[in-house]
Amino acid sequence: MNLLAARPRSAAPPSQPAAAETALIEVAAITVRYPGRYPGRYPGRYPRSARAAAHAALAAPALDNVSLSVDAGEMVVVLGANGSGKSTLLRSIAFMLRPVSGRIAVGGRTLIGPSGTALSGRALAEARMALGMVFQQANLVKRRSVLANVLTGTLGRHRNLTSALGILPRRERAHAAACLAEVGLSTLAAQRAGTLSGGQAQRVSIARALAQSPRALLADEPVASLDPDAAEEVMRLLRRVSHDDGLAVLCVLHQPDFALRYADRIVGLRAGKIAFSERPAALHRADIAALYESPRT
Ligand SMILES: Nc1ncnc2c1ncn2[C@@H]1O[C@H](COP(=O)(O)OP(=O)(O)OP(=O)(O)O)[C@@H](O)[C@H]1O
Ligand SMILES: [Mg+2]
Repeated sequence: MNLLAARPRSAAPPSQPAAAETALIEVAAITVRYPGRYPGRYPGRYPRSARAAAHAALAAPALDNVSLSVDAGEMVVVLGANGSGKSTLLRSIAFMLRPVSGRIAVGGRTLIGPSGTALSGRALAEARMALGMVFQQANLVKRRSVLANVLTGTLGRHRNLTSALGILPRRERAHAAACLAEVGLSTLAAQRAGTLSGGQAQRVSIARALAQSPRALLADEPVASLDPDAAEEVMRLLRRVSHDDGLAVLCVLHQPDFALRYADRIVGLRAGKIAFSERPAALHRADIAALYESPRT
């Protein structure tokens, strides 16, 4: 099923057209510094004052001049040792961190530009909806039904309506049901989310992300808590939504074997820098093994 075709009419298209039809995620020369990495100072997420910014400038960057792009219909896997900057990269793309320099664009819309300006208001809400997120833990509301959890993915489109009346348009229910069908769990729609297995819960969290009608999906270690069969199923699902529905999927993994089997391209991060960006067939095991030598402290 093509979820892009199922996009509800109320999902406004981006006001800026995509620069090129293909590159949905563009990261150009970003550098990220955590002020908290300066000893004993500023455990916060990014500089909020001139003093904090000055200390941040002294810290080693968590990401150092990183560039990367993910095309529509492409699945890119990021590999790297603990602390190499994988989550920092995803958090930067998802607005959770502000790089000190560089540019990030999603669907041709610049989120962070050379002047450091971020979007705000409606433009920010639309940009957020364009990015679905999946984490290691599914983070479902356990006492609510599976379908109700998937429906929460649509909330960003109806903030005023839901806050005023606590209701969602009927078509969103049909859209959420279609997303649940996409992950193969229609029969569990009415079941309480707390009763699901880990693999089922993760697939529901992917359905919730798809309910946003995103253009790109960011997944941070989505199979780290799953048994081998459930992990395979989630990897197959991520590849399918990328290849069949045209989403740009950027997925962080700690399993090189999955990366080699499922990725269209593998990006290796080492100490905050891109070590390589290659098709699996062009990579040698030694290239991947080198990522895990002398990990960053
Ligand atoms: N909030 C923070 N404050 C200060 N430093 C941080 C913060 N978050 C991450 N870091 C540092 O930034 C670097 C990159 O961290 P990040 O979480 O991106 O690594 P990762 O590749 O996702 O690691 P893992 O495989 O363990 O999840 C690490 O050195 C980490 O200590
Ligand atoms: Mg991480």
